[in-house]
Amino acid sequence: MTQETFRALVLTQQDKDTRYAFQNLTLDALPEGDVLVNVAYSSLNYKDGLAVTGKGKVVRKFPMVPGIDFSGVVAKSDSKDFKVGDEVVLTGWGVGESHWGGFAQKARVNSEWLTRLPRGLDLEQAMAIGTAGFTAMLSVMALEDRGLKPGDGPVVVTGAAGGVGSVAVALLAKLGYTITASTGRAELRDYLETLGANEFIGRQDLGRDAKPLEKETWAGAIDTVGGQTLATVLSQMRYGGTVVACGLAGGTALETTVFPFILRGVALLGIDSVMCEAKRRKRAWSRLAADLPPDRLSKMTHKIGLSEIPRLADSILKGQVRGRVVVDVNATPS
Ligand SMILES: NC(=O)c1ccc[n+]([C@@H]2O[C@H](COP(=O)([O-])OP(=O)(O)OC[C@H]3O[C@@H](n4cnc5c(N)ncnc54)[C@H](OP(=O)(O)O)[C@@H]3O)[C@@H](O)[C@H]2O)c1
Repeated sequence: MTQETFRALVLTQQDKDTRYAFQNLTLDALPEGDVLVNVAYSSLNYKDGLAVTGKGKVVRKFPMVPGIDFSGVVAKSDSKDFKVGDEVVLTGWGVGESHWGGFAQKARVNSEWLTRLPRGLDLEQAMAIGTAGFTAMLSVMALEDRGLKPGDGPVVVTGAAGGVGSVAVALLAKLGYTITASTGRAELRDYLETLGANEFIGRQDLGRDAKPLEKETWAGAIDTVGGQTLATVLSQMRYGGTVVACGLAGGTALETTVFPFILRGVALLGIDSVMCEAKRRKRAWSRLAADLPPDRLSKMTHKIGLSEIPRLADSILKGQVRGRVVVDVNATPS
């Protein structure tokens, strides 16, 4: 009897260089886990760009199937929590880094990593949201938890035309906040306006040296860029303002002073989507189903097949991808 095969993007390492290949694999190649999933969609995130190009030390062992998230249908289960036919979503937990991930038609994973597809979303929408959108929701929830309300003043979103940024803008707009979108791509202002941005600030206006304290401007901030941008945003926070740091697209170093914290009571909150605990994860997915308008989600998303991942992996690191990229792992290769 011939074994069932499935298609996967596989990364290997040779002389410290990361190489990719598309392979047809059999189920016995998959790692251990109590649930086998027929993957429907994955998505392309900044971290996937780092993994596939080998430009970041994201992959912990080789060979690796990258893809830090996926949605799909349970095909086999040894877990009491899931049965064949259940629709599931997975983001994080080291999948696509230390455990084979979503850039394949099958995945075998630990059941504790799976979240049920929330009511109101289909499998494709779940990956249009993906890790980036989930992180944007966690960021908005962190602002809310510190008491930020729509009437408090403008919220700045940096790296606004990227994946996390686009979802953050759409969510904040739906919730009634006034949003200033920071982007390095002036040509995408119309796009950001359709998602709900009210004002704009250029990437270079935040990515410059800042004084320890500048004019009090923002009541809240979601920063996907890090580095100098984060330092400048901190110096421009209003009294009692909250900054959520969730990304590093512009750098990892943070040179700032204590003044925003001790003279303006500013809070700097960190977001980690990978190890986020199950209860908060579930809440974030329900909120996404309720608060992210589907028409705006579809405006920010485009769909590719597995074979287009390597090209776009390079583009996402260069800040050239707009919004979100869904990967249809079952699309016929072009
Ligand atoms: N904390 C977590 O758990 C978590 C989860 C998901 C993602 N992230 C991080 O969040 C960041 C965004 O992820 P993503 O998937 O949304 O990536 P993305 O789609 O590439 O978005 C990043 C955006 O940042 C801006 N940008 C790119 N290079 C820049 C540079 N050199 N200087 C300043 N701005 C730059 C661009 O926006 P404009 O063109 O609009 O300027 C770009 O679209 C990444 O650093 C990622 O690792 C963290």
